[in-house]
Amino acid sequence: MIPDDALDRLEVDQWEAHHRDRLHAPEPHVATYVAEHGDQILGLAICGHGRHIGYGSQAELAALYVDPAHHRLGIGTMLADTVLDDMDYLAFESVYLWVLEANAGSQRFYRRMGFAPTGERQTFTVHGYEIPEVCWARELPEPG
Ligand SMILES: CC(C)(COP(=O)(O)OP(=O)(O)OC[C@H]1O[C@@H](n2cnc3c(N)ncnc32)[C@H](O)[C@@H]1OP(=O)(O)O)[C@@H](O)C(=O)NCCC(=O)NCCS
Repeated sequence: MIPDDALDRLEVDQWEAHHRDRLHAPEPHVATYVAEHGDQILGLAICGHGRHIGYGSQAELAALYVDPAHHRLGIGTMLADTVLDDMDYLAFESVYLWVLEANAGSQRFYRRMGFAPTGERQTFTVHGYEIPEVCWARELPEPG
């Protein structure tokens, strides 16, 4: 999905430090969720106000990652359910996200979570590689 060359150039330490900083000093209107077991973080979700033009009234699920050694154990579902409950509580009407077009496994996961493709596409650029992404969204239940 992402060329090895681009993955090799990702700065994991910087990425980890960035997320640790976010946990200690959260940005306004963005929440980070972690799934923990003992002192180990097994998954991470980031959600907040939509950052894309025209999406301001929707919540955006900006990241959802589960440690590959712990895939298919329900951790992603638990994180996504928690995010969806919170965004519903905050009175967002819907949640959207961008997922790599080639990421069929995650798209199956999102379909199971009630999301569907909106038909919109964009390009995610990483170290000079342009990788297509597609937008998926789902409505949240009416409050009350
Ligand atoms: C997508 C992701 C968060 C799912 O987390 P998870 O904890 O493995 O998911 P769950 O165990 O809750 O899966 C629930 C169901 O979703 C579906 N599903 C999850 N991953 C799937 C996959 N790779 N292929 C097909 N279906 C999948 C299955 O129906 C699964 O139920 P089952 O295991 O009983 O068959 C995880 O695979 C991940 O971190 N992927 C890499 C990062 C990524 O792509 N994130 C999304 C970017 S937008």
